[in-house]
Amino acid sequence: MLKEKIKNIESLEELQELYTSVFGKNGTMTVRLKDMKNLGNDERAELNRENTELRELFKSRQVEIENAVLNAELSKQKLDVSLDAEPKNRGTLHPLTQSLKEVVAIFESMGYTMMTGPEIEDDWHNFTALNTPEYHPARDMQDTFFLENGNVMRTQTSAIQIRAMEKFGAPIKMFAVGKTYRKEMDATHAPSFGQIEGLYIDTVEKNINLSAFIGTLRAFASKYFEREVEFRIRPSYFPFTDPSVEIDMKWGNKWLELLCGGMVHPNVLRNCGIDPNKYQGFAFGFGWDRLAMVKYGLNDLRAFYDGDVRWLKNSGF
Ligand code: DAH
Repeated sequence: MLKEKIKNIESLEELQELYTSVFGKNGTMTVRLKDMKNLGNDERAELNRENTELRELFKSRQVEIENAVLNAELSKQKLDVSLDAEPKNRGTLHPLTQSLKEVVAIFESMGYTMMTGPEIEDDWHNFTALNTPEYHPARDMQDTFFLENGNVMRTQTSAIQIRAMEKFGAPIKMFAVGKTYRKEMDATHAPSFGQIEGLYIDTVEKNINLSAFIGTLRAFASKYFEREVEFRIRPSYFPFTDPSVEIDMKWGNKWLELLCGGMVHPNVLRNCGIDPNKYQGFAFGFGWDRLAMVKYGLNDLRAFYDGDVRWLKNSGF
């Protein structure tokens, strides 16, 4: 009837209690086993068998109870694996940010170091040091926002090349990405827009010339647009480069204005304490949002800044 009792027990605690009363220090079986030496052979064998049987019975009842507990637990917390998951709205990076990351990665892979500068600039860095002194007609090329103290909202990231050369001298190989500001607003111009600037100056022996400039930018454009690009070079004018060029890129069957640059003007080097007889190199600048517009086939720049989530979601980025 001990066996019956074991079979009828429903909880692990009770089972443990019963087990102790049988196999514990003074348990019934323990006492009997201690007394074994006084038994005859047959009785000993019988006791051993009984001992083993009881232990197995306890063990199997324990497993049964544990399984029952587990099953009860599982049936309470049923999982329906066929239910649809809750939709999760994951955000993505803004297209301009994505495009910027690509640009940065390409220039860094070409050995250019990224630098930054302030968006509120003084006259020296934004104009004068860039060979555009006061009353120079080229100041009219850029419709400037002036601050009351005579500073300006940076009209061009070219200001950063001045800061870079002042700080690090030459040789230098840097690029910068930043916001610039001008009083203009239409489908292809916004009052605040992104520019990318590059500068590569080294000793005259290295002969960093206009064809190195064109080759560099062609390599950049092929990587960024993921295809061989065709360039058209036009002469241009900037006070801070001489000669100056504008580069158009063939896109489909149209020529698109892509970037500007040229050989850094000796006056600019001199303004930054660099001897133009010992150093030469090129600089370039282009619109970062324009670049993304071309790549993604957009024709209105303002969409980038409207913050319309539906447009952002459907624009294929
Ligand atoms: N700063 C010029 C602009 O905003 C672009 C530019 C032209 C940058 C020639 C350069 C350069 O560095 O060499 O229109």
